[in-house]
Order: sequence, then structure tokens, then C-alpha cells
Amino acid sequence: MTLLHIIYILYKAPFIFHRNKVSSYGTICMCMYAMVVYKDERLFKHILCIIIVFAITVNHLRDESKEKESMAEVRNKQVILKNHVVDRFPKEDDMHVTSEATIKLKLPHGHTGVLVKNLYLSCDPVQRLLMHNKQLILQYPNYTPASPLSGYGVSKVLESGHPELKEGDLVWGFTRWEEYSLIDRPESLIKIRHTDVPLSYYAGILGMAGLSAYVGFYEICNPKKGEKVFISAASGAVGQLVGQFAKLLGCYVVGSAGSKEKVDLLKEKLGFDEAFNYKEEGDELEATLKRYFPQGIDIYFDNVGGKTLDAVLVNMRDHGRIAACGMISQYNVGVEESEGVQNLMQVVLKRITLKGFNVNDYIHLYEDYLDYVLPYIRQGKIVYMQDIAQGHLDAAPSLLIGLFSGRNLGKQLLLWFSDHFREEI
Ligand SMILES: NC(=O)c1ccc[n+]([C@@H]2O[C@H](COP(=O)([O-])OP(=O)(O)OC[C@H]3O[C@@H](n4cnc5c(N)ncnc54)[C@H](OP(=O)(O)O)[C@@H]3O)[C@@H](O)[C@H]2O)c1
Repeated sequence: MTLLHIIYILYKAPFIFHRNKVSSYGTICMCMYAMVVYKDERLFKHILCIIIVFAITVNHLRDESKEKESMAEVRNKQVILKNHVVDRFPKEDDMHVTSEATIKLKLPHGHTGVLVKNLYLSCDPVQRLLMHNKQLILQYPNYTPASPLSGYGVSKVLESGHPELKEGDLVWGFTRWEEYSLIDRPESLIKIRHTDVPLSYYAGILGMAGLSAYVGFYEICNPKKGEKVFISAASGAVGQLVGQFAKLLGCYVVGSAGSKEKVDLLKEKLGFDEAFNYKEEGDELEATLKRYFPQGIDIYFDNVGGKTLDAVLVNMRDHGRIAACGMISQYNVGVEESEGVQNLMQVVLKRITLKGFNVNDYIHLYEDYLDYVLPYIRQGKIVYMQDIAQGHLDAAPSLLIGLFSGRNLGKQLLLWFSDHFREEI
């Protein structure tokens, strides 16, 4: 074989590639061509070897350059908390959205975490408590000024160093408010296995909010059929579920919410027996509750605390149960301005059980919860109101602070960059 032959074969070699892979079709064609032209089997073998070695080398070089490309740093948009927020309402201006940070879309060598692309971000009242300069909740680390906020979300695994997660998996759990996150403790993420329901549900009904409703109602309140249940912030992420769980059990259910639209939804869409706008009741809350519960309340699911809790205590029945889930009315005020509870003596007089809980202590019940709730979702017996803002991270600060004025109608979420992930969403 002359040098000219080799040059000719190398010149023709690109035909044997198809999408960066050696094309057997191309190889066979080249070899048949060589056989016809040279009628020499040994030469044919040489040519075959040269083609294969050449193809493998080129493919290898292409793969390497592809890998380098994917290791490139990309811009990583983030929501940053400027400074701690203490004893006042948070403002949009307490956060800023920036694209200054970059991230390598490749796990560092030997890293045991996961690299994720965040798809849905959940706005939760607990995030307000993490803005404080004191650590108020042990289960969550406080925010560090000049760093991205963290929060619950639904994400897609881009690369994993964890044995139970792999590229392409969908997960929900605690992530950061940024486009891509490197999660150091992937054991805190839960793999999404049921994809016949909307993916967004894993940031709400099938995520932390749903489990909170389940645990608070069933584990803390020990409910029985026919009991009388009152729920505050009843149209929110947690409250709307507690009401529906209670109705499915056969309870009488009343909810309070902050607008006529929410009150109508509670009665017309979510099946509550009664609902009222607490903002219209002013100081008459005690009397209002007496109207809706002439024989008293068996179960109070408390999402707001303050004067609502005080009015409820007076209206509780003997041996009533109160699940202290949250006290959102008190998150933005200091101790001096907080609404003291005057009627705590009722707990003794009526032998009431008042118990606080943190959903993180009940993660072991998650599978039980899925077994309970998924059939209801699939049968359409439970509906979930979601307030999903679609767009870019720039909207996130305003959505978060909107929770404290009741701007959200149902579970507040942010879905962003859906175009890239349309197939999952
Ligand atoms: N213990 C746990 O593990 C756990 C887990 C999840 C959530 N939580 C708590 O559960 C509660 C509900 O959370 P969520 O995620 O379901 O939030 P959400 O109800 O979806 O959103 C918060 C709602 O609270 C109401 N609200 C705001 N400020 C209020 C005030 N001063 N007085 C009365 N209502 C007020 C607003 O609704 P209106 O328009 O009706 O006023 C707002 O839409 C919160 O307190 C949260 O911290 C606790």
C-alpha cells in the first residue's frame, strides 16, 4: 500500500462516522471499496485496521473535548439574602437576584453529593424564620447574609456521586434558590417515583406541606369521625389539605382565610362545611367561632397563632386537641409586639392537648403518606390549589414576601426555565 492510498483512505474516513460513533455501514462500504479496487485480502485487512484505529482515536478526541465543554463554568442565577431580617416584615429589597456566580456542571472528582438543576421552587413561611439572626429552628440552618436562600424544591439530577441517585432522576427536598445546586447531603433528597401526577405536587401536596398536613392531623390530633375541626390559614398549602383529610374522615370542617375569594374556594371547591374571612371579624373572633361551633371545637389545626389561637381556646371542647403547626401572624414581630395568649388556662380547665410539631421529625412516615394520599389524588377525591408563577428567578423575592400578606391562592411555587425541561413538566 502506498502513502497515496493511506492519504486517500484518511480523506474518505469521515464517511465512516455517524453522530460521533463508528458507523459499521461506513466501514463495510470502505472495505468493500478497498477489496474491489485492490483485489487483495491482506491489503483489505490493513485498511480495515487503519480505519478502525483512526475512527477510535477521532471519537476519543471528540469525547474528550465534549467532556471539557460540559465541565465549562456556566452562569448560575441566584436569590441572595442581603442581610438578616429581624422583627419586621421582609421586603423584596432584602433580597437581590444576581447572575454573578458561576458553577461547573461537573461534580468534583470523588464528590459524594449530587449536582441538580432546580425546576420548581417552593415559597414557605419557614423561610422567614431562617432570615433571622438567631437560629429559631434547629432542623434548618439559618441563612447567611450575602448567600443564596435555601428552600424546598423539585430538581433534576444532572450528575450523582450518591449510589441511590443517578443522572436524570427527579427529586424533591431542600435545595437552594439558584438555577443549579451542588447538594452535599443528597440523603436529604427524596427520589420521585410516581410520575403520573403533576411534578409540581412534589413541592406541595406530595412534599413537605402535604406531609405536614398528614402528620399534624393524624399523628397530633388523633381525629375521629364526626368531630368538629377548625383550621386557620385554611386555603394555604397545608390548611387546604387538612380540611380535605378531615372531610374524607367524616368531620365537620370550618376554615378561616383572608379574602372572599379564598372563602368561596374553601366552600365551593374544597368541600369545607363553612368558611369565613377572619379580617372581617376583627375583635369578634370568639363570637364568630361560637356561631360556627355552638358545641365547641374538638380539633384546631393552628397555622397562625396569636389572637386566633386565643379565641379558639375559649371555644375548645373538653379533651380537645390543638396541633400547633405554625404561627405565621407572629413571624414578623418582636417579642414586645407579639400577641400574648390570654386564655391558656383553658388548656388546664378543658384538659386540652396542645402539641407543636416539626415535619422533619416524621419523614419516616412519608411512604405511608403516599399510600394514603395518592389514591385520593388519582380518583380526584382530593384537589390541590397551586399558585404557580412561571418565569425567572427575579420573581422569587416578591412571591416569598407575598405569603405574609396572603397574596398566594393555594400553594405558592415558582416554576422556571420550563422550556428546557418541558418533557418532565
Ligand atoms: N410545623 C411544621 O413542620 C410546618 C410545616 C409546614 C408549614 N408550617 C406552618 O404552617 C403554616 C401554613 O404554612 P403554608 O405553607 O400552608 O403557608 P400558606 O398558608 O400557603 O401561606 C401563608 C398564608 O398565611 C396567611 N397569613 C399570613 N399572615 C397572616 C396573619 N398575620 N394572620 C393570619 N393569617 C396570615 C395568608 O393567608 P390568608 O390570606 O388566609 O391570610 C397566607 O396565604 C405556617 O405557619 C407555616 O410556618 C409548619
